[in-house]
Amino acid sequence: MYHPTRTVKTWAVGISVIFVCSLVSLMYVSQQSSIDIITEQYIPQRDSDEKYISFLPHSGLHNQLSSLTNALVLASLINRTLIVPELNLGSGTYWRYTPVLADRLEICLPRLLEHAPESVECWDYKKYVPVAVESIVDLSEIHALGIKTYQRESLQRDYFQTYWSVPNDERNRSLAIEYTDRVRYSYQFHDTLGLGKRADMPGAYDSYINIPDLILRQEKFLVFNSMFGANRLLLTKKKNIALRRLVRNKLVFSHPDILKYSKTLVDRLGGPGNFASAHVRQGDGAFKASVQDTMQEVRIALEGTNRSKNKNGGSVNATQASEDQKLIQRLSKIPKKGLALLDECKRIQETDNKTNNLHPRLRLIYMATDAKKPRERFDELYNEFVCMFCLSDFPDIISSVLLNSTVDTMGAGVYENQGKLLLPPVDASVASFGSIFFGTHGSTFSSYIRNQNRLFHKLKKSG
Ligand SMILES: *[C@@H]1O[C@H](CO)[C@@H](O)[C@H](O)[C@H]1NC(C)=O
Ligand SMILES: *[C@@H]1O[C@H](CO)[C@@H](O)[C@H](O)[C@H]1NC(C)=O
Ligand SMILES: *[C@@H]1O[C@H](CO)[C@@H](O)[C@H](O)[C@H]1NC(C)=O
Ligand SMILES: *[C@@H]1O[C@H](CO)[C@@H](O)[C@H](O)[C@H]1NC(C)=O
Ligand SMILES: *[C@@H]1O[C@H](CO)[C@@H](O)[C@H](O)[C@H]1NC(C)=O
Ligand SMILES: *[C@@H]1O[C@H](CO)[C@@H](O)[C@H](O)[C@H]1NC(C)=O
Repeated sequence: MYHPTRTVKTWAVGISVIFVCSLVSLMYVSQQSSIDIITEQYIPQRDSDEKYISFLPHSGLHNQLSSLTNALVLASLINRTLIVPELNLGSGTYWRYTPVLADRLEICLPRLLEHAPESVECWDYKKYVPVAVESIVDLSEIHALGIKTYQRESLQRDYFQTYWSVPNDERNRSLAIEYTDRVRYSYQFHDTLGLGKRADMPGAYDSYINIPDLILRQEKFLVFNSMFGANRLLLTKKKNIALRRLVRNKLVFSHPDILKYSKTLVDRLGGPGNFASAHVRQGDGAFKASVQDTMQEVRIALEGTNRSKNKNGGSVNATQASEDQKLIQRLSKIPKKGLALLDECKRIQETDNKTNNLHPRLRLIYMATDAKKPRERFDELYNEFVCMFCLSDFPDIISSVLLNSTVDTMGAGVYENQGKLLLPPVDASVASFGSIFFGTHGSTFSSYIRNQNRLFHKLKKSG
């Protein structure tokens, strides 16, 4: 793992060494105006040519991972180190334009730490739970791709001043450039000159920045607001597209408790690839409104996993059809609590391994969802697919996660039940091991699972 070694203290030593030894940095300093006043304050702390980019976090966990993917790819394409903000594992916060997002982080995070009384503007930060990126996802394979990261120590507005000695006034102009983000889809990054503004893409962006131009920027810090959006990077070069795919694949939950408990559950379901999986998001915003559509899509997809590919070309005789109906009836009467239903369902899947003639309604399915009581919320789906299960059907695994997991919340002891934060990642990880996966349109949580699921199948094929 990559451990940032730069602390304020080591820089102090570094500064004096640089000051004496480094011709480059002396030249750098001599280019500045009013050198006498400012040398002590902001000589670049390291003599290397290392340059940085930064951005601010917002939205839910999977959206943050998507932003992080964009930022890592951009950092790589412009050969800069990415200053990685903490991940918020709690409730998602809202995107806000420059400089409001920075203001909210400035005001609301310390209030959380200090258990200050609620304030109106911080309403969406009440359940903000910061964790160091590397406590949840493994960045070592990202680093192996040559992409450098640095864990940001604070999201306060004086960050660059405090940790990098960038003055908080116009003297910083040659050191840092801030890109304003006025609308949700503001700057798009183009890997090729002359692509022009693309109004034809989903989430059409307001403006664009050419990556070849960014490469030429001399400022030590390029400071961005949001990095969110599936099309934030408009990539046309094959190797850049491949890089993005690679980064996405490598940005995987790696917290040991997530791995441990998702494996326990996958094994309980019969092992990797021995169940179908789905993700239905329904809790907020547009997803709430479209939950019926989502359910219908998932249903059609699951019904589509029918016998059309089996040795009989999908046809079943009357005897078989009536056996299936009887079985479905019988299973739907088994109490949902306890393991009897799951055991029965697993047995049926094993038999199907030989006959390859399973009725789609008898398929073993794992559904990841944000619904609190899935069996009530999706009773139609459950009635139709009698062998469907979700995390809440495994209370013992939930309580193990709740009781035995810890996450390092960077001193923000606001969250009593740390294990609870890991339930959505466990849910996603289990669904990643489906024989097939069906997700919710437009959900980054679904995208994560779909991507990991593809990877799982690829690895399985290659043995
Ligand atoms: C990338 O940046 C590093 C400094 O961080 C520099 O040493 C290296 O030469 C750069 N690589 C390219 C290909 O420009
Ligand atoms: C640079 O200084 C300006 C004030 O002149 C300030 O608004 C801005 O945040 C500073 N930039 C950085 C990166 O510290
Ligand atoms: C299989 O599912 C597809 C899509 O739902 C449908 O068009 C087809 O008729 C089904 N075939 C059988 C044998 O059920
Ligand atoms: C009906 O299909 C089942 C399974 O495909 C087979 O075992 C059985 O012999 C068939 N029955 C008749 C009457 O064809
Ligand atoms: C089905 O067969 C495959 C290959 O023999 C095996 O890996 C898998 O575990 C079996 N699935 C079930 C549900 O028994
Ligand atoms: C975890 O929690 C469960 C309770 O759900 C408990 O039985 C178990 O001993 C705990 N410890 C470990 C290491 O799993």
